[in-house]
Amino acid sequence: MKDLTQAINSHLSSEFQASHTYLAMSIWLREKDLAGFSQYMLEKSNEERVHAARMIAYLVDCDEPVELPTIEAPERSWSSVQNLFDRVFELEKQVTASINRLYSLAEEGGERSASAMLDWFVNEQIQEEAEARFVLKRLRLAGDNSAALLLLDQQFLEGKALTHLKATNTAA
Ligand SMILES: [Fe+2]
Ligand SMILES: [Fe+2]
Repeated sequence: MKDLTQAINSHLSSEFQASHTYLAMSIWLREKDLAGFSQYMLEKSNEERVHAARMIAYLVDCDEPVELPTIEAPERSWSSVQNLFDRVFELEKQVTASINRLYSLAEEGGERSASAMLDWFVNEQIQEEAEARFVLKRLRLAGDNSAALLLLDQQFLEGKALTHLKATNTAA
């Protein structure tokens, strides 16, 4: 197996692991009756599977082998909503670092088609990190104020919490 193919296959586990963790987060938030945050994390969980599917399609189209990873059981509880989003931000930064490594490998090997495929992911990670950073900042501002937390939850429920970020980014 080519190094790059191997690396893309191992990257799949980052996407699936993030999807699984976000699903666990969505469940935890729903149990806390934070329906808006829960819905947002469910959407993020589904998005991560779509990311994996995009890379799988690339491998198949290039006649390269796909090896689906084993997914570990995700964390199941967090000390606070802010703590949960700290983790989201951390995971997204890890995914970005992994994408960057794939990009370097693709460039070193002169694999133009892989670079082109990865361009989409580079833009997507800018969006993902911007969202996580924004939500974290809002949660820090809210602090222990549950009215502020519920307002943000409501904005997520109405799909309004991140509209300003989506409007400035075409990658989403
Ligand atoms: Fe992703
Ligand atoms: Fe992500």
